[in-house]
Amino acid sequence: MSELAVLRLPVLQGNVEIMTHFFLPSGLLWGVGSSAYQTEGAWDKDGKGPSIWDAFTHKKGKVFRSETGDSARNGYYKVKDDIQLLKELKANHYLLSISWPRIMPTGIKTEQVNEKGIQFYNDTINSLLENNIIPIVSLYHWDLPQVLQETYGGWQNISTMNYFNDYANLCFEKFGDRVKHWITFSDPWAVDVKGYDTGEHAPGLKPGECSAYKAAHHIIKAHAKVWHSYNDTWHSEQQGMVGISLTRSWGEPIDPHSQTDKAAAERYIRFHLGWFANPIYKGDYPEVMKNYVGKKSAQQGLGTSRLPTFSVQEKTYIKGILDFLGIPILLFPFLQVPSYNTDYDLAELVDPKWPAPGPKWLYSVPWGFRRLLNFIKTQYGNPLIYVTENGVAEKYLTGYIDEILKALNDGVNVKGYTAWSLLDKFEWNEGFSERFGFYHIDFKTKNEPRHPKASADYYKKIISANGFPNPREVMSIANSLMAHMEMVTEIVLPTVFTLCILISIVLLIFYLRNHS
Ligand code: BGC
Repeated sequence: MSELAVLRLPVLQGNVEIMTHFFLPSGLLWGVGSSAYQTEGAWDKDGKGPSIWDAFTHKKGKVFRSETGDSARNGYYKVKDDIQLLKELKANHYLLSISWPRIMPTGIKTEQVNEKGIQFYNDTINSLLENNIIPIVSLYHWDLPQVLQETYGGWQNISTMNYFNDYANLCFEKFGDRVKHWITFSDPWAVDVKGYDTGEHAPGLKPGECSAYKAAHHIIKAHAKVWHSYNDTWHSEQQGMVGISLTRSWGEPIDPHSQTDKAAAERYIRFHLGWFANPIYKGDYPEVMKNYVGKKSAQQGLGTSRLPTFSVQEKTYIKGILDFLGIPILLFPFLQVPSYNTDYDLAELVDPKWPAPGPKWLYSVPWGFRRLLNFIKTQYGNPLIYVTENGVAEKYLTGYIDEILKALNDGVNVKGYTAWSLLDKFEWNEGFSERFGFYHIDFKTKNEPRHPKASADYYKKIISANGFPNPREVMSIANSLMAHMEMVTEIVLPTVFTLCILISIVLLIFYLRNHS
């Protein structure tokens, strides 16, 4: 087994790196995003059908503290309020997702279309546009209608592709006069690996019950089908774009001089980004993926590879079907489980020096993102790219935005940046324990008031200046955040601790006096 690992991250140690580029080309979209299941709530209201996430979270123990998105952030009832927050941020676009079962309760168009769901998204899109905020809409941020899962096995079954195409066409028909940026799937890697391999996400299946490769195969075909539908039926009238948002993982060899390590790093990237990007840009899975899964399948005594194949016609049909590529940037560590994760034969290490800005699975490695962007540029013909998710904390954003600026200088075709996310919200199997929002939500107070965090102010400045306003200002914001953190750890905590000890001593003296 060879090893894939990391290099030290220079950007976020101590202070913020000196920015080399301060302004972006004009016309670049700055925005924020969120998704339906994570924010809307109202899971069974106004005719919405259940999704796989409703079914999954309603089983005890699947999510941290068994929390659910039943009410999530009550976004269904707070569209106007949340648009005010977008205005406050000066965001010029908002990435939202449509909940498929909210507008088609069973997922099947011929069975039922829920007019109240259509009305909800119409109102949302109209309010965004009235406030000069461009809606970027994802058709699938993980909440498959539960009926499709129960009846057909969800993405395991090719019929889901046809139902998805009907749903997408309904969205183009109803909203396409105003929505010009469509994303077919948000991070299908997570859908497949976490939903159909590790089982951490809905529908919570594991190898033996299903195959992540098969689910991914159908998702790639579904993307192609929807792109063709748009191109054939809607494009001439609506003039929009259809893209996909693909996984962000990047790997570096432990020893950059070792051929084995270099091959391992490349294999890692091909098994992540390449799994979806290669078919879409080149018409087939990466060679290395076909070889490795084929070899492993043979070793397991299987007659055919677990990785499905595309027919000659399918290769032509799926190739080149993309108007833009969306890239979320949140780095995941590698999970050692059988099947997909073991097929690529390498070990992933995380450098302990990588800053972990919050969640235990997330590391800040901005320079890796520049490399990933350059890889996409050279491998896939310099496509149009929108960064579709980048988040956690202020300093973290700084490093990533800076690397995007450098990548622009390298000639990468980035046209939009979406910070993740507007509000604290439901974070899948982590429940509400992780807070990615620019706005803090006070869950315990009635009406759940939203309060801006320091990052909201920081991002607003970046948007207003179309880049970093002024290096000194950025440094001073970062420094004051550092100072704040230091104050908490070095002054507040020790003081509270010392006070507790003093109070305990006084109480003890009282007690001893009274009892002597
Ligand atoms: C998902 C987001 C989620 C984020 C953090 C991303 O991969 O697309 O929906 O909020 O991870 O959990």
